Amino acid sequence: MRSGALETLNSLAALRWELLSELEPREGWGSCRGKSSRRGRGVVRVERIQRSGERSVNGTGRKAISEFRFPSPPLHSRRSEEEMATPAHAKVARALASSAAALVLLWCVHFRGGLSLGSPTNKGLIFNVHPVLMLIGFIILGSEAIMSYKILPWSHDTNKMVHMLLHAVALFLGSVGIYAAFKFHNESGIANLYSLHSWIGLGTICLYGIQWLLGVTTFFFPGASPTVRRRMLPWHVRSGLVVYMLALLAAELGFLEKLTFLQANGLGRYSSEALLVNFTALLVVLLGASVVLFVTAPMHNEHTHGYSAVHKP
Ligand code: HEM
Ligand code: HEM
Repeated sequence: MRSGALETLNSLAALRWELLSELEPREGWGSCRGKSSRRGRGVVRVERIQRSGERSVNGTGRKAISEFRFPSPPLHSRRSEEEMATPAHAKVARALASSAAALVLLWCVHFRGGLSLGSPTNKGLIFNVHPVLMLIGFIILGSEAIMSYKILPWSHDTNKMVHMLLHAVALFLGSVGIYAAFKFHNESGIANLYSLHSWIGLGTICLYGIQWLLGVTTFFFPGASPTVRRRMLPWHVRSGLVVYMLALLAAELGFLEKLTFLQANGLGRYSSEALLVNFTALLVVLLGASVVLFVTAPMHNEHTHGYSAVHKP
């Protein structure tokens, strides 16, 4: 009975979608993509367009959409339990993130003696803050922020707020992590910014900050016009993924560099610590791949409407 009603609702929604498609040309990622279309239900797609005109509506489109407004059923009847559940890809990404976080903590606490931002005697403890904050604070929180639109069950506006705040916390913790690396260098009399890792790392955090500021001013406060938002969104998504991949690259170079230093100073090539560092770096690669594949995956019901979020029709 309930599924029959849902089917009817879906058909009406699909019909309305076709009408809207005529009125509003599709312009690639973000223009008409109902976020909840990830759940595979056309009815949710329509609900999203109603709630958020920003990505699909320009000056004339907004009027047209309100003429075709479709009565929304209450939220609990629109989303089944299956739709509310975390997608399997996201579970994989989270499992990888948790494992990488556990391994980096095990490394820095058990093998490297712990973390401290102000140790007067053991400067290595100051350095240890760096990989922990860069991985858990910057990369893992950044991954969670990027996936937030696709895994959180809330409204677009709430998800946007979470996306923005998680990126802000990631940026803050990443900055503290970089501060720890500089502090360690300065207090140990080591030169700054001599490695490829440090150049890419510093460049990444600066780009991340710019991406965040542009994201806030375009999509949050004061917020650009619907037309500008619609044009900016595909760029925001792609540049966001590039910055994220740069962060992954910086972390990989960091693990490689630190392990090379340690091995040059006598750490066994196949010692348990060396294997631990390499496995942590491997998990970070897998985490990045799972996040990028997850957020760029074409959604099957978008194909049923003849276009995909990734490929232009
Ligand atoms: C996205 C993550 C990361 C970023 C953005 C980043 C950024 C940086 C920056 C800017 C420096 C320069 C500090 C200075 O010159 O005083 C640095 C140093 C360093 N980082 Fe990272 N880092 C990241 C992750 C990691 C990780 C996971 C490790 C693993 C241990 C690591 C290991 C190192 C090492 C050994 C140094 C000192 C040598 C050098 O300056 O190249 N980093 N990092
Ligand atoms: C450095 C910070 C940021 C990065 C790396 C980033 C990255 C991304 C990525 C990869 C996506 C695509 C997610 C998906 O397809 O599900 C996205 C979507 C989005 N981001 Fe950001 N973002 C950042 C900051 C912000 C900020 C501060 C805002 C402002 C509120 C914002 C607003 C949005 C919006 C509105 C979307 C569209 C979501 C949708 O498809 O409905 N982003 N971002």
